[in-house]
Order: sequence, then structure tokens, then C-alpha cells
Amino acid sequence: MKILVVGSGGREHALAWKISRSRHAEKVFCAPGNGGTRLVGENVPLSDTDVAGLADFAVNEGIGLTVVGPELPLVLGIVDEFESRGLRIFGPSKKAAELEGSKVFAKEFMARHRIPTGRFRVADTLEGAKKILASGEFGYPVVVKAEGLAAGKGVIVCSSQKKAEETAAEMLVGKKFGAAGGRIVIEEFLRGREVSFIVISDGTRVQPLVSVMDHKTAYDGDKGPNTGGMGAISPSPFMTEKLFGEVMETVIMPAVTRMLEEGRKLKGVLYAGLMLTEQGPRVLEFNVRFGDPETQPQMLRMESDLVEVLTAAVDGNVLEKEIRWARRPSGCVVLAAGGYPVRYEKGKPISGLADADAIPGVTVFHAGTKHENETYLTNGGRVLGVCASEDTLAESMKKIYKACGRIYFEAAHYRRDIGAIKEERT
Ligand code: AMP
Ligand code: GLY
Repeated sequence: MKILVVGSGGREHALAWKISRSRHAEKVFCAPGNGGTRLVGENVPLSDTDVAGLADFAVNEGIGLTVVGPELPLVLGIVDEFESRGLRIFGPSKKAAELEGSKVFAKEFMARHRIPTGRFRVADTLEGAKKILASGEFGYPVVVKAEGLAAGKGVIVCSSQKKAEETAAEMLVGKKFGAAGGRIVIEEFLRGREVSFIVISDGTRVQPLVSVMDHKTAYDGDKGPNTGGMGAISPSPFMTEKLFGEVMETVIMPAVTRMLEEGRKLKGVLYAGLMLTEQGPRVLEFNVRFGDPETQPQMLRMESDLVEVLTAAVDGNVLEKEIRWARRPSGCVVLAAGGYPVRYEKGKPISGLADADAIPGVTVFHAGTKHENETYLTNGGRVLGVCASEDTLAESMKKIYKACGRIYFEAAHYRRDIGAIKEERT
């Protein structure tokens, strides 16, 4: 079967890499892909948001399965378009993708169905927002979230009423987050440790993926601005059997069941971002796609045939394919462009990739790279994901950091403490 992966990040390289190892994969295409995906398949010069163009391509090439990486094409309705043309695609419909695409929908959905989440209110005017903030009902700090997708940047923790009012004004009046800024969510600030919980769903039942822990902030010691993720380890040191059961029962199954009841069948991935508070797990957000970089260490540990797992979900029998995982822990360190996540340059030549890859057990996934005139150039904020899976986490990380030391591009930066678990952050 021919398989199309939509997207261009480290997540998509990891998915394409794993798919290319499937006994069902005759050929893998990536649209638009990156410098690394061309090593496991063929890149197709179509944007991941060109829904009609991608569907035309899938029809013309006779693609048997399409796998969507990022949220934007899902929110734009790529699954509906493909299905209307009789094409097989892994991911949720436009209506179901609102669970990620609309913060207001997600929060109201959780409130409707008593899925544990922070207390919140929605405001659509600055006056309304000011009233809520003046009431002090959530205390300070308070969290202000722009409606819609804002590439992870639409969430601001505000330490005072003044800061919160300014932020609300920027979002509602200044339209700082573009069209996303029409409404805002004002939410109580939750303290605790963040945990991600990711499952594959066929719309009624789910198969959990192996646990994984992201490292969100830019700098060591959980300092600096939030990023898309600077590294990840699997398993997550904070996922216990008890917590697993509790999240399945109070978050995952209610979400899948209630979405189905509301006519928004959640087919694809359900990713719950959770805060482990003293009162128990609370949902910070839902995503309807794989995590990035989380997918990278997860794919290294997956022993099952990914194509079989994904087609089982698309065909509505996810339970028939129990996913097998290697016991060995894995890790991923993201090499980022200088200045990421704020301002960074592209087009820097990357050297040392072959030397890093030559270390047995090391896999380098490309994220923001492109291949031009026989060289790899940086082409995004997160440039590479250096991964390994060894007998212990410490050995995995040692190998990864050795490989990181062999790769060079101007102004590269990466965290040196991925997998070095510190005490509870407050
Ligand atoms: P979201 O996109 O809603 O997950 O928010 C992005 C990040 O903001 C989360 O990963 C948290 O680190 C933080 N965040 C979001 N909501 C809250 C909250 N209610 N309390 C504390 N931190 C939050
Ligand atoms: N690494 C965070 C995410 O994929 O949402």
C-alpha cells in the first residue's frame, strides 16, 4: 500500500520512519516533508494545509492510507475532504478536531460532561473580561487563553489583574493572535506537574500509547519561555498504574464517549495535557494529534506494525491490535535554532549528521531542515530530534548527548538536562 504522511516536523519524520518499516508499506510519501523524510520516502511539494491538493494527489497516486501529523489540516477539514472522496485517512473530522481547535468548545465540553478541568469563564468583549477579572473569582495568577489555534502561544499566565487586563485587551482588541482572538478563556491557575496522556482511538475504544514526558521550556531547569517541546523521554517517570486508571476513567473514556454522543466521533489520536494537582488530574488541553517531540521516543519503542495499528483505528476495531512496546526506555533531545522560540534564522548549514548517525543505536529525526545542493540547512525553530533507546534511561541520554556533540550548526542550542528529573516544580 502507498502511504502519505502530511506535515513536515520531527513527528512526521518519526511517523514516516516507522511506517517505512511496515510490511504493508510499498511506498511512503511526505507532504511537504523535510530534509529527513526524503530518506524514508518521497517528499511531495504540497503544503500541509492544501487540503484539496493533497486529496487530488492521494487520488492520483492511489494512496491507501493518509496519516496527518499537525492540527491545522485537521481543523481545516482534511479528513472530511478525503473521506468524501472515498480515501482512507487517520485523523478526526473537522467537527471532532474542534476539541483542539477551539478552547471555548473544549472547556464547555468538559464542563458539560464533568471532565475534570480548571474553573473558567469565557469573555467576548473587553468589558466582559474586565468584569470577570475585577471579581477576582480565580485569584492571581490567572490564565488568559486566546480562542483558536495560536501555535501554543495563545496562553498567558498573568500575575496580576493589570497584566491580565492588558493581555485580554491585546487578544480581544489588538487581535494579537489574529482571528484566534475573538473570544478568550479566563481560567484558574493550576499548580502541579504536567503529564501528557496519549491514546489512539477508533471513535469508541482506545489503545493507549506508551507513556512519555515532554520538556516544554526552552532552557535547563524548566526555565525560560514555553516551546513546542525541547525533548522527551519514555516512559514518563510520573505515570503510575493508579494514575493511568484514573485518567482513563475520568478523562479519556468520557471524552471519547461524549464526543461520539455529540456527533463528533473522535477517530485518530486523543492527547490529554494534564496538570497533576493536589486534588487530582485536571485537563489543561486536549489535542487530536500525536505529540511532537513525544512521537519520536515513542516510535523508537513501538514494536508493533504502525500501519496495522492506524488502519485498525480507521476501520473501527482498534482493540484488535494491541500495541507492543520495547521495554527499553528512550529519549529525544531537540536541537533548536538560536533564538527559538522567539526569533531565529534559517538556512544555516548543518554538519556532523553522518557522524552522529554512525553511533550505533542513535536515530536522528529531522524537524526544521531542508536538503539543498547536497547539504542540509536549518529550516525551522526546532531543527533535529536526536534519539536513542538503550537498557536504561541514563544510557540512552548518554548516547544522545554524545551524538548531539557531533552535530553543528551556527547558534544551535539544546537543553542539557532532558531526562534528569528534578524535584517537584512549584
Ligand atoms: P494549553 O495550550 O492550554 O495546554 O496551555 C499551554 C501551557 O500553558 C500548558 O502546557 C501549561 O504549561 C500552561 N497552562 C495552561 N493552562 C493552565 C492553567 N490553568 N494553569 C496553569 N498552567 C496552565
Ligand atoms: N509537545 C507538545 C505537543 O505536541 O503538544
